[in-house]
Amino acid sequence: MWAYEVQGFGWDALKRVERPRRALAEQEVRIRVRAAATNYRDLALLRGEYLPDMPRPYVPLSEGAGEVIEVGEGVDTLVPGQKVLGHYTSAWLEGPFQQMYHASKVGGPVDGWLAEEIILPASALLPMPEGWRFEEAAALAISGVTAWHALGDIKALAGRWVLIEGSGNVSLQALQQAAAAGAHPVVLTSRDDDERSRALREQGATAVIGPGSAADRREAILEASAGHGIDVALEVVGGRMLTELVLPVMATRGRVAIIGFLESDRVEGELVGPMLAKLLHLVGVSVGSRQHFEALLAFMVRYGLRPLIGGRYVPEAIREALSSSAPLGKSVILMP
Ligand SMILES: NC(=O)c1ccc[n+]([C@@H]2O[C@H](COP(=O)([O-])OP(=O)(O)OC[C@H]3O[C@@H](n4cnc5c(N)ncnc54)[C@H](OP(=O)(O)O)[C@@H]3O)[C@@H](O)[C@H]2O)c1
Repeated sequence: MWAYEVQGFGWDALKRVERPRRALAEQEVRIRVRAAATNYRDLALLRGEYLPDMPRPYVPLSEGAGEVIEVGEGVDTLVPGQKVLGHYTSAWLEGPFQQMYHASKVGGPVDGWLAEEIILPASALLPMPEGWRFEEAAALAISGVTAWHALGDIKALAGRWVLIEGSGNVSLQALQQAAAAGAHPVVLTSRDDDERSRALREQGATAVIGPGSAADRREAILEASAGHGIDVALEVVGGRMLTELVLPVMATRGRVAIIGFLESDRVEGELVGPMLAKLLHLVGVSVGSRQHFEALLAFMVRYGLRPLIGGRYVPEAIREALSSSAPLGKSVILMP
């Protein structure tokens, strides 16, 4: 079968190869991949900016969906022909996170979805919601589940102010979820682009705040929330964003989900003062469990949400799919 492997670091290390099929072990399932989707993680791993010590080669892409073609001994929950989507932290089924779960992440170190077939434990597969396309089912395992976990108790979000940074994978899914939950999402974008701002409003943003000085953006956030401030913030940028923009606009007892490091994983500035003054909660997020994923799918089905697809690519165009940030929505790879 064909697969792509990341054999080292950088674009030249991403190679199409032929791999032998291996027999299934107990509780394993073989899936014909129909669609896969990209995340910032794929790029960060390839460049060696994230987990440079992770063993290589590995098959990239953490999100995917397909059809069951074979089940191993002991699998009684899935049958050949069934349409499934994959859970990312494959060993984290429920309950609190444990360090050993890092080793079960699909798309490195566990082989991912950029291949003709993938083998995963049955417990890491969820039935596709009725009527969904493969490309939609493939677009959630990291970005959708991270957004869901980061937003916290979804039932408590109605009427709350949620700050979302940027219009990338995690942010866009958080926007859809928060809006469906009845929250007021405020989106910060680095783009001065009316069409994109309009599209973000269509996805449920109460306000979209473009580029500007930190002081102007803080004022715009507070104005958008009628002076209340932010109850829940999703921090994907890191660097100065947390101290200059997020902490100063938080409401008392607000929750800041620390998710990403697009600018930097180092924090500069005043952290302790605002945390004590406003009794803030800073929570680290590492995607989520199968239980989170199931709850997210049930929520999406209930509210008729589907992930927005921004670009469709063939496997050979993986470089373009990983590099593109122009369209709003997920970049998906459709398998031949
Ligand atoms: N902890 C976790 O569980 C977890 C899970 C998923 C992702 N992440 C992390 O979260 C971050 C976002 O991931 P993603 O997949 O959503 O990324 P992405 O799709 O590439 O989104 C990036 C978006 O962030 C905005 N942005 C704002 N400041 C930026 C900056 N300094 N550099 C680049 N982009 C900036 C941009 O939106 P505008 O163009 O609108 O400004 C951009 O489109 C990454 O650091 C990723 O590793 C963490």
